[in-house]
Amino acid sequence: MIIAIDGPAASGKGTLGKRLAEHFGFAHLDTGLLYRAVARVLMDRDIPLTDRDAAAQAAQNLDVSHLEDDSRLRGAAMGEAASVVSAYQPVRDALLAFQRQFGGQEPGAVLDGRDIGTVVCPDAEVKLFITATPEERARRRHRELLSRGEQAEYETILVDIRRRDERDMSRSTAPLKAAADAMTLDTTHLDADGAFRAALDLVERRRSAING
Ligand code: CDP
Ligand code: CDP
Repeated sequence: MIIAIDGPAASGKGTLGKRLAEHFGFAHLDTGLLYRAVARVLMDRDIPLTDRDAAAQAAQNLDVSHLEDDSRLRGAAMGEAASVVSAYQPVRDALLAFQRQFGGQEPGAVLDGRDIGTVVCPDAEVKLFITATPEERARRRHRELLSRGEQAEYETILVDIRRRDERDMSRSTAPLKAAADAMTLDTTHLDADGAFRAALDLVERRRSAING
């Protein structure tokens, strides 16, 4: 079984994906880390993010092991840079096979990102589209950065989040949008526990509909 989770920045996809994966004993892939890692290769080599060929090459040669443990990938600058290189079709193409292979694991897998339900796993049994207002998402990311000891201004984060959403939704390749058969969950007024319970309910309902 595949659970596909998509949604905008800081909507809680990663947190929810991890908890659903633990609950069902599935593997979990935060696909945003792949794009962040591509961006980092360019930044480490002082290559401009506008260099499409270098970005494509970095994606083709990406070492996908241990991305989870790499705290440098999680900073705000890397998220912004990731959204630039993720708009390049050859970069997306190069990362597709790994994501699909990950989704094929038994007994199941949870993948979260922007295009899981639409492009990576269009046949996923369960598709969730997680949302929350930009203000609530900025508050969450603000809290998260402060708790990691990073300097962060709420207003700056809000501007960044709006800009990134706009870029992710308006790009021509694999834009951020809900799949036609996705179930949307607005988590604006839910904490992480509440979002998990609401999502679990949706997953169970979908599973019983499939199993008759
Ligand atoms: O993966 P994505 O960027 O969508 O979000 P995340 O990294 O899972 O969550 C961003 C922050 O919001 C984390 O610190 C979560 O603990 C918090 N949060 C959440 O995930 N879900 C809620 N319903 C409320 C807060
Ligand atoms: O955690 P947050 O939602 O802030 O970002 P992320 O999920 O780590 O994704 C960083 C950027 O990578 C996004 O803004 C997208 O541009 C890109 N991305 C994508 O294009 N497709 C995916 N499946 C996942 C991420």
